[in-house]
Amino acid sequence: MSTSPMSLSRFMLEEERKHPKAVGDFTLILEQIAFAAKIISREVNKAGLVSILGAASTHNIHGETQQKLDLFSNEEMIKALDPTGKVCAMASEEMDDMVPVSDKNLEGRYAVVFDPLDGSSNIDVNVSIGTIFGIYKRANDNDCLKSLLQKGKELVCAGYVIYGSSTMFVYTTGNGVNGFTLDPSVGEFLLSHPNIKIPEYGKIYSINESNYDRWTKGIQEYVKFIKNHPDRQYTARWIGSLVADFHRNLLKGGVFLYPEDTKNTKGKLRLLYEANPMSFIVEQAGGMSTNGRERILDIQPTSLHEKTPLILGSKYEVELYLQYREKYG
Ligand code: AHG
Ligand code: MN
Ligand code: MN
Repeated sequence: MSTSPMSLSRFMLEEERKHPKAVGDFTLILEQIAFAAKIISREVNKAGLVSILGAASTHNIHGETQQKLDLFSNEEMIKALDPTGKVCAMASEEMDDMVPVSDKNLEGRYAVVFDPLDGSSNIDVNVSIGTIFGIYKRANDNDCLKSLLQKGKELVCAGYVIYGSSTMFVYTTGNGVNGFTLDPSVGEFLLSHPNIKIPEYGKIYSINESNYDRWTKGIQEYVKFIKNHPDRQYTARWIGSLVADFHRNLLKGGVFLYPEDTKNTKGKLRLLYEANPMSFIVEQAGGMSTNGRERILDIQPTSLHEKTPLILGSKYEVELYLQYREKYG
């Protein structure tokens, strides 16, 4: 008799059982994020139909104003997490300040950061987008902001959802990376990519090359070298959604770079919502992540929306970048 596929819910419960002291708070939070992901996935899949399905007015059938998908996703994440009562603090890329939480969360033992919809410039053109999240244990005092401004290495969980040709939920709790694919016929994420490991080197480099003239010499020389690599033929891939570019490189190997340049002097990506969760995942998969000077997960955040240069992927390509950075700056 063949066994039934491993659902995300069962997987989480089995993980929880490995921690005899666990009381289920963490699993509940993760379940709720997966639930929000399904709702967002449904909406993303309908996005192209909006103009056909009579959204000429700005109201939907419930009389509610139609929202942009990124704001919708933001609300779904909050609507999923707040009722748990387990989240003392939340921060979203879509909101300037901390997300206000209801009183029942005040004793919550976790803090959650998220980019509700990553790659938003791709929404209108039917290209893969995603959701990124990170979960921290509450810091040891009553300062909620402190719980959110912890170093990436303090994450207890990080993950992303990719809304692509299928919807996938990929996450780690610091014990390997696992990927689950949504089976729409049963409405469940099913384990499809157990124990993901990034190849030690790859053939893909992902960088927005239109910034070339604004790059530092180190990045320019690095990309030149990669293009004429003596041992390997590299190829360039740039989707413009971090989740999608990262996901491809995680499975196939290679490097993703959004370095600083003369216009974006600190890079473009956000430390809390993008760089830290992806760095935690890539390290768990055997890869590396850096801002060029230090490991991303060692950076002490000082504000919710700070940006960072981000270079992450297979070990070989990231280490090579560090050599070029060292040599040329
Ligand atoms: P977001 O849609 O959450 O604002 O993030 C967009 C980010 C990231 O997903 C992507 O890698 C990068 O912006 C693309 O930047 P360029 O448009 O400069 O290539
Ligand atoms: Mn983003
Ligand atoms: Mn976003």
